[in-house]
Parts: sequence; structure tokens; C-alpha cells
Amino acid sequence: MRALSATGDGGLVEPVRVPEPSAGAGEVLVDVRAVSVNRGELHRLTAAAAGWRPGWDFAGVVADQGTSGDAPAAGLPAPGTRVFGIADGGSWAERVAVPAARLAVVPDGLSLERAAALPTAGLTALRTLRMHGDLAGAGVLVTGAAGGVGRFAVQLARRCKAEVTAVVGRPDRGDGLAALGAAEVVVGVEGLEAEFDLVLETGGGESLREALRLVAPRGTVVSFGNSSRASTAFSVSDFYPKEASLRGFYVLNDLDGPRTAADLAYLAGLAATNELVVDIAATSDWRDARAVLCRLRDRRLAGKAVLLVTKEKQS
Ligand SMILES: NC(=O)c1ccc[n+]([C@@H]2O[C@H](COP(=O)([O-])OP(=O)(O)OC[C@H]3O[C@@H](n4cnc5c(N)ncnc54)[C@H](OP(=O)(O)O)[C@@H]3O)[C@@H](O)[C@H]2O)c1
Repeated sequence: MRALSATGDGGLVEPVRVPEPSAGAGEVLVDVRAVSVNRGELHRLTAAAAGWRPGWDFAGVVADQGTSGDAPAAGLPAPGTRVFGIADGGSWAERVAVPAARLAVVPDGLSLERAAALPTAGLTALRTLRMHGDLAGAGVLVTGAAGGVGRFAVQLARRCKAEVTAVVGRPDRGDGLAALGAAEVVVGVEGLEAEFDLVLETGGGESLREALRLVAPRGTVVSFGNSSRASTAFSVSDFYPKEASLRGFYVLNDLDGPRTAADLAYLAGLAATNELVVDIAATSDWRDARAVLCRLRDRRLAGKAVLLVTKEKQS
């Protein structure tokens, strides 16, 4: 089958032929129709050796169920079912085999294109927001708010009745964030003086330093990205008297538990009824993946980018 693979030389990705995957016990084989692109994949592709295969998010149609010996595939979605989810890698391909615990059915009213945009960014937003407990009335600061995770985080925080401040890099990057639920949209964090109960921090460098300054006493900073690729120096003696928490988060660490399928189904349910807006900034044929990755790298996408996995023309 065809897949996208790292070039290892700065070219980011190229199409290659790879062996067909097969579904093991508890897995399904998915005929992939759409995948989404995450900044984390861009970072990895920039450094990856040739042959490394990217791809966490996918949406498609079940092609086959794995069996355990002669045991029936109880509980697995049947062939033909529309599903979406998150793989350990390698989903930028015609087919991917994934544990059933990492996927959910795509409900009516949600396209495969929009479903593909949900898993990594949606789960990250949902799970980082949960790290502070009850958010009703809480002040939440979302850095990188124009991006894929950021747009979901703004909406999900507002659903929990938080007061959301969204941080963007340029004024035009803030377009649409108020409609998604941000009470305030600011360009950079430098001028802010308010204290925040929860800060979702992905800028790294100076942005993380400012987050540690702005977190409220007993508040929480969740650091889960370093888009700037810069290191952070901060004044510990300004930070520890607040008894605030600095916590890390990595979405791929906790995907095999019982909650992933339920969280995916929750996000898909909201998206199907437009209670969660899936802002897709670019949809392209997967053969144009490199151009999409370059736009993501250059901060020219405000929202998610989706690649459509098209069939090969028969000669
Ligand atoms: N730990 C995890 O499990 C996990 C999971 C998902 C994502 N992440 C991380 O979370 C961050 C957001 O991911 P995403 O997929 O939503 O990315 P994205 O769509 O590219 O959004 C990132 C946003 O960050 C802003 N940004 C601020 N400083 C930047 C810089 N120096 N370089 C590039 N962008 C900068 C950009 O907005 P402006 O142009 O408006 O500034 C951009 O919209 C990334 O750092 C990613 O690696 C981590």
C-alpha cells in the first residue's frame, strides 16, 4: 500500500510503498480516508531519519477486524463502520491497524474530514483542561489559541463556564476566537496583569516564563508544547510562594485505557451537533502534504489541516 514517510533530508515527507498492515487481537484495520496534521508531527519530521512514518490522527472505514484464534471479534466495530481515532504513528497511509480502545464511531452529521481533525488536538485540549478540576468561574489562559489545540481548548473551557483569555501571535490570528467563547483575545502575554487559575502553555521560552508569572496562587500551569523551541529561565522565588503547580502533559502516554474511546465519542458528539466547532484551515490531497506542512511551519494556518487520502488511479 501507499504511505507517507520522512525523507530525512529536510524535504519532510514523500510517498512510499510499505507492507500491508493487518489487525491483531482487539484491533481493527481501517481504510483511511482523511488524516490530520499536528505541529508535533512537523517537529518530528524535521528531525526524523528517512523512513520514519508519521500519523496519529485518522478517520476512515473499518475494513477488517482482528481475531484471537477462532474467537469472534466481540465489541469491535463491524466492517463498513465509519470510525476515527489516534494511532501510535503511521496513519498517513492507505490503511492502518489500531486497537479498538483508541477509536470511536463517527456519528451521523460529522464528516470524516472533520472527524480526522479531532483526536490529538481535541483529546489534548480536553485532558489538559481536566487537570485543574472544576472550571466554573475560573480564569483560563490559552496560549497558541489560534492553532488546532487552542481552538478546541477555548471552546471546551467556555463549555465549563470558565473565563477564557486567548493568546495569539498577531491581531489577525485572533479572528473568530471571541465567537468560540474567548472573553478576551490578546496579542502576546507580556502586557497581562490578571492572575489565571489555569494556564495551557505551549509557546515555551518566554511564553512559559510569563505563564509562571501569571498563574494565580494554587493555580496550575500545564506545559505541553514548546512551539518556540526556546528554553525558559524564570524566577523560582517569585513562583514558589504561590504554591502553584507546573505540570506536564503528553497525550500519547495514556491512550490505551478505557477512557480514550469515551473521550473521542464525547468530542465527536459535540462536533456532530456543532457544539464544538471544528475549524479546518486547510484541506488538501495527501500528495500535497509537504506544502501543508510548510504552511503550518510558517504559522499560516489558523486551525486544523486535513489531508484526504485519495485512491490510486487504476491504469
Ligand atoms: N504534549 C502533547 O501531548 C501535545 C499534544 C498536541 C499538541 N502539543 C503541542 O501543542 C502546541 C499546539 O499544537 P497544535 O497542533 O495546535 O499547533 P498549531 O496548530 O500550529 O498551533 C500552535 C499555535 O501556537 C502559536 N505559536 C506561538 N508561538 C509560536 C512559535 N514560536 N512557533 C509556532 N507557533 C507558535 C501559533 O499561533 P500564532 O501564530 O497566533 O502565534 C499557532 O497557532 C504545539 O507546541 C504542539 O507540539 C502537545
